Amino acid sequence: MIIHENASLQRLNTFGIQVKARYLVHINSQDELSELTKEPIFTQVPRLILGGGSNILFTKDFDGLVMKVDILGKRVVSETDETVLVDIGAGEVWHSLVLYCIDKDWGGIENLSLIPGTAGAAPIQNIGAYGVEIQKVVEYVDGMDLITGDHRRFTHGECQFGYRESVFKQDLREKFFISSITLRLSKKYHQFDTHYGAIREVLDRNKITHPTIREVSDAVISIRRSKLPDPSVIGNAGSFFKNPTVDRAVAETIRKSYPNIPLYQIDNQNVKIPAGWLIEQCGWKGKQVGRVGVHEQQALVLVNLGGGNGEEIFQLATKIQESVGKKFGVSLMTEVNII
Ligand code: FAD
Ligand code: EPU
Repeated sequence: MIIHENASLQRLNTFGIQVKARYLVHINSQDELSELTKEPIFTQVPRLILGGGSNILFTKDFDGLVMKVDILGKRVVSETDETVLVDIGAGEVWHSLVLYCIDKDWGGIENLSLIPGTAGAAPIQNIGAYGVEIQKVVEYVDGMDLITGDHRRFTHGECQFGYRESVFKQDLREKFFISSITLRLSKKYHQFDTHYGAIREVLDRNKITHPTIREVSDAVISIRRSKLPDPSVIGNAGSFFKNPTVDRAVAETIRKSYPNIPLYQIDNQNVKIPAGWLIEQCGWKGKQVGRVGVHEQQALVLVNLGGGNGEEIFQLATKIQESVGKKFGVSLMTEVNII
């Protein structure tokens, strides 16, 4: 295990921001993690756990220890005729895992195709797309409590999943190192979630009435490619903000002035408004501000157009929050982790 000093993080974050870590270490196994906790440096400086860097904005150099999660491995824990329980190392690339499961005809995560990042980070914000969240298949999450050094297993209920939330993003942020996740996937009687409008459209267009897991995954991939920028081409971290939930009365007031506002009912009291719509209405879509900007196809995605720094993106995000607040009286909360 090598502790690198003054290491560049530019290739380790999908915004492509050029920042440095005072110390950087790649963790390839649980043993290496245990070894690291015995090093004096472990308790002497601030720590940051880093997966694929696809949900992080670095606004400055990190004056501490970055632990890059590289623990690999996929193992069947148990199986029946109908389901399989699979344990996945936290450093596995999420989309490669999805493709691996599709090859095996294991169902449950096909709607989550093409989401960047690692398997270990997936439960942290309960990744979701096209009507499915990872919580649907999470059985448990294993890792190390970095304060006590103890191993701990979180059952599904203990993960406290919510929309882009979990206990790992709240109370346990930077205190718990996820080393593996265990998912229960279907081998038979797959439950397809194809109600999301765009998926249905793609399947209908291709005259697919009874899709396979792969066909659902292919539909999701084609939809995502048509509107989300590829981070290897344009730096970004997906949706920068969460979609806000507001009281129905607030939404109805906005609807009086904007009859076409898209609203998604959550319960009798609350509705969700797409943040991308709010940002677009404020005139930000496709706007360039120096070296950073707002994506032209998806106003919820902030982009690094080349050489931009984290502070510029953060300033742009703040201006967007201010203008949405002023025009609609709605607060936008960041989804991306600001460091
Ligand atoms: P990182 O960005 O490295 O880390 C995210 C947070 O988790 C940080 O706070 C970090 O400290 C912590 N962390 C990471 N790994 C561990 C670990 N092993 N143990 C403890 N803490 C850890 N997200 C969605 O939900 N749905 C989408 O549809 C979606 N689309 C996206 C599209 C694009 C183009 C991009 C760039 C991003 C998208 N995202 C989406 C966001 C992102 O891909 C996910 O949040 C992903 O799970 C982040 O994984 P990561 O490994 O890159 O995490
Ligand atoms: N919209 C606009 N203008 C825009 C963008 C969106 O008006 O520029 C409106 C449209 O009415 C559209 C609606 O917003 O119908 C929803 O847009 P979209 O389907 O693109 O989804 P989203 O709400 O913007 C969410 C997630 C994505 C996820 C997609 C698909 C959040 C914060 N974002 O985006 O997740 O991939 O749905 O399920 O919930 C991420 O978290 O990083 C992410 C990309």
